[in-house]
Amino acid sequence: MKKILVADDSSVFCTLIHAQLTDVGYKVRTAMDGASAVSNAIRFQPDLILLDIEMPDVSGIEALSKIRDYESMKRTPIIMISSHREKDTVLRAIKKGANDYIVKPFHVGVLLAKVSGWINATLDEQWKFLPSRQQSALHLLKEAMDAAFDSATKGGGLSYQRLKNACQAVVKTIGEDGFGGVLRSVEDYNNTLLLHSLVVSAYMYLFSVFKNFNEEECLLNALGGLLHDIGSTKIPDEILFKPAKLDSGEFDKVKMHVTYGMDILKNTEAVDQTVKDICWGHHEKMDGTGYPRGIKAEEISVSSRMTAIIEAYATLTIKDVCGNVHEKKDALLRLRTPEGHLDLQILKEFEDAVLRGFHRT
Ligand SMILES: [Fe+2]
Ligand SMILES: [Fe+2]
Repeated sequence: MKKILVADDSSVFCTLIHAQLTDVGYKVRTAMDGASAVSNAIRFQPDLILLDIEMPDVSGIEALSKIRDYESMKRTPIIMISSHREKDTVLRAIKKGANDYIVKPFHVGVLLAKVSGWINATLDEQWKFLPSRQQSALHLLKEAMDAAFDSATKGGGLSYQRLKNACQAVVKTIGEDGFGGVLRSVEDYNNTLLLHSLVVSAYMYLFSVFKNFNEEECLLNALGGLLHDIGSTKIPDEILFKPAKLDSGEFDKVKMHVTYGMDILKNTEAVDQTVKDICWGHHEKMDGTGYPRGIKAEEISVSSRMTAIIEAYATLTIKDVCGNVHEKKDALLRLRTPEGHLDLQILKEFEDAVLRGFHRT
């Protein structure tokens, strides 16, 4: 479980943020002044610190300098919280070693997005126990995906061949070194677009191999899994990371990620049809109640039907922004309802695959 230290002299703020971060699966400790922020940082060794600039006695900026003096805290992400829009204060904090800042009042979704983003940036730590060729492949993929997210956010296309090569390197090492270590590195973790995409991609690959698809089809299914939600880069953080239930207006905005995804793929050269199918079809349902087209059964590509199952399974088994997590067998049972959504024949094969650890024999 990732640990976060929240330092702010407002008890109301601390209580609120403590509750929100705990809800989404972080272990949280709070401090209400600069001196206890420093002592807690040293004792608690958090994975990330949220530090208010304005605190009595020892200010946030002084606390920041003191925390950075400790060798173990040199690389810990620190996000400053400020009520000031003045550039100088924030610049001073950045110069003293802060990584980022957020200005009060802020939407909790924006804070969670920042926190996830910074924890994501320390993925190296999670991956350092994996075989070195797996680490290299994952780093290659992370860099390619970061560039893809960046370009998509700015309205550009993707470096498709770069993504395909990186995906190929990752599935190769997953085939040879297994997926267990990668999965363990993300399972106790809040979901981010990168991790969600990586997990869906890896399961797509393993399931495709289990189904005896040829090598090219296995790779394209994995690549489709990687890019299925690329349109989410266009959804505002406060909606994408909202810990509470979305209202219908917000849900309509989230649904747009499929259309945005297709726009991004249209702006990208030489995208394979399977990848487009997955992006366009992964929220369709067998009974025609899905979106964006409301198509039914066989009208939905097999790859899209596989993605819908895997997406639901990954959401149930990996802690997401709602903080829920289910055991393998329980998750598989839950996929059977509501009836009419997922392809039952493919679901049966998927259950078999999961229970056999994706090995046929
Ligand atoms: Fe998804
Ligand atoms: Fe999606």
